[in-house]
Amino acid sequence: MTMGRNKNFHPRVEDLLSRMTLREKIGQMVQVAGPKGGIPDALRRQLREGRIGSMLNVTEPAISCELQRIAVEESRLGIPLIIGRDVIHGCRTIFPIPLALAATWDPQAAETCARVAAREASAAGFHWTFAPMMDITRDPRWGRIAEGFGEDPYLASLFAAAMVRGFQGSDLSSPDTLAACAKHFAGYGAAEGGRDYDAAVLSENLLRDVYLPPFKAAVDANVATVMTAFNEINGVPATGSIHLLRKILREEWGFSGFVVSDWKSIEEMVNHGFCEDGRDAARKAVQAGVDMEMQSSTYSDHLEDLVATEEIREGLIDDAAAHILDIKFRLGLFGERPLYRAAVPGQPEREALLQAKNAALRSIVLLKNNGILPLSPETRRIAVVGPLADDPYEVLGTWNRDGRTEDTITPLAAIRSLLGEKTEILHAGGMKYSRSRDTTGFAQAVQCAREADVVIFFAGEEAILSGEGHSRAYLNLPGAQETLLDEVAATGTPIVLVVLAGRPLIIGKAAEKAAAVLYGWHPGTMGGPALADLIFGVESPSGKLPITFPKAEGQIPVYYAHKNTGRPPEKLSLTMIDDSPVRAYQSSLGDAARYLDIGYQPQYPFGYGLSYTKFEYSDLRLSAGTVLPGDTIQASVRLANSGTMEAEEVVQLYVRDVTGSLTRPVKELKGFQRIRLKPGEERIVRFYIETGKLGFHNSAMQYVVEPGRFTLWIGGDSQSSLMAEFHLLPTRDMNKR
Ligand code: NOJ
Repeated sequence: MTMGRNKNFHPRVEDLLSRMTLREKIGQMVQVAGPKGGIPDALRRQLREGRIGSMLNVTEPAISCELQRIAVEESRLGIPLIIGRDVIHGCRTIFPIPLALAATWDPQAAETCARVAAREASAAGFHWTFAPMMDITRDPRWGRIAEGFGEDPYLASLFAAAMVRGFQGSDLSSPDTLAACAKHFAGYGAAEGGRDYDAAVLSENLLRDVYLPPFKAAVDANVATVMTAFNEINGVPATGSIHLLRKILREEWGFSGFVVSDWKSIEEMVNHGFCEDGRDAARKAVQAGVDMEMQSSTYSDHLEDLVATEEIREGLIDDAAAHILDIKFRLGLFGERPLYRAAVPGQPEREALLQAKNAALRSIVLLKNNGILPLSPETRRIAVVGPLADDPYEVLGTWNRDGRTEDTITPLAAIRSLLGEKTEILHAGGMKYSRSRDTTGFAQAVQCAREADVVIFFAGEEAILSGEGHSRAYLNLPGAQETLLDEVAATGTPIVLVVLAGRPLIIGKAAEKAAAVLYGWHPGTMGGPALADLIFGVESPSGKLPITFPKAEGQIPVYYAHKNTGRPPEKLSLTMIDDSPVRAYQSSLGDAARYLDIGYQPQYPFGYGLSYTKFEYSDLRLSAGTVLPGDTIQASVRLANSGTMEAEEVVQLYVRDVTGSLTRPVKELKGFQRIRLKPGEERIVRFYIETGKLGFHNSAMQYVVEPGRFTLWIGGDSQSSLMAEFHLLPTRDMNKR
């Protein structure tokens, strides 16, 4: 045994490990789902024999306590179980989905949400959450886009670290924390065609520059655990990847927590065609460095024998068990944390609800406004229609495990309570649920629209249409919603369209029919009150898109940090399909990286989001035109609120490395700040850019910052045009400065 394998381990780990049998050590590496209704004898026996180290999905408090009691009081060494749960965006209080949290561009708000979730979930008896998910994706067809922080590695990294801090607190052993889990390591969001679980084909550069940074940020934030991804990358399933788990995670980043597989992802390596059978899968997973197996049983079935036949070294088992025990000690499971305290998650506290509303308020994005918003609270008669207007379940989004519909305030209820008696609200959903094709409710909704001064139309997709396994090929408003919208629009009453969804939907045509569009994602328990406040101008919208919205599915992937190509379309005169003469000469339409039918622009760019006030940017300045490697350059801009309402703006800074030994994206987000200004107020907003952060992985896979010309933009979205330039000098040019 390799005693003292990690100097930072809890001091009691080695002693405990030295007293364990091989079977007990393997037991720590086994995680199974909790039983329902009672504890089968076989499970009791396994617990007594120390053959199980962790459980998940234990939902009945009495069973949870009893399982823990058996492990602690009836097993030889009394090692407690670590009980995990998918507390993804809240426990009992459901916060906006993670993609929506990213739209707040307010990592502190996400940290607070995670803190509240940890308090609620730990009180319910959970020790560990399988969150945050930090998979970068550029494909809204992928249903799990809802669970991550969008397309940008910089933004996602800040949110990943913030949520880890929120879940884990400053002291993991304090009883109100949860161990966090950085998932899914790695490349899961790059699934081909946006089909969940599908293969990722990724260059090592792309992996390191785009997909890995949030994981690195989570490790730097001391995340306790990491979950392997279901997918393969370049032919190797992530769950069997020595490169990912040993080389990058452990050796390069120094991760010291434990690695858990995803649900049966070890066994699934047989389906991938990477392993012969369960035995082979167990061997490859342990060799790759997967410490704990979730749900499949290849470890409990084969590891003992694999050690006996010397196909794997016992030292590998010791390491895995030590990683797990260390987290159990750090979590206070051997002392500080009360062990038998499971309970059904209790009613949300006032503070939790306030935080849920605050996060939702900041996450909702105003995509269009012809001036109709905010609506006057004096509006006489308002029609509230659409399948999501009064649904307390769907607004909670994917991964709602412990939230309750009775806690939800729906948009309709919130509007009623905000406006009181003086406004007449006519409500007819028109459809029972988002996918419905039943049009029998249309007439009533249309009648409401006809009688009202304004229509608020709550469209979107149900929770089940996003999340795990729920990819979609068509991203329009599902069911008969677009027809209902047409019929409502035909009344001539102006429409405020509110879209509630787990992903960017293709809403260009729907938006044309509306006077204003708010994108509310799946906003959680307090989404209704947040929407009502924004619609009626209690607060101005300030969310910004953390993901590019495509015009059509055929445009996917479309993302702001793309490459320029040799034929960028911006500067060419291009003919679109409808203007092309019949039998036009092949190259007469202009040859560029674009589509003949929809061009190259997305529907809404990354970082985009309107406000009720007017923010003006001017006076972009750099502290120097040239800068040396290792130095920091200061960029500043004047931001003025020249509108009539106090509001918040997310000021964004993008940089382009114009020429590189490998081509660089046309823009990369490098900083942002949320600024609140009163009408007439202005402020100089300053950014400090460390040149060391302007690098990338070169062809030798070294992180390099290459000298040369850089362009910098500051503005309200990724397409803003206020720009400046600076040169990064090679060190030897120091005296030319
Ligand atoms: C499978 C999912 O991929 C993962 O994210 C989740 O944490 C586990 N199931 C456990 O529920």
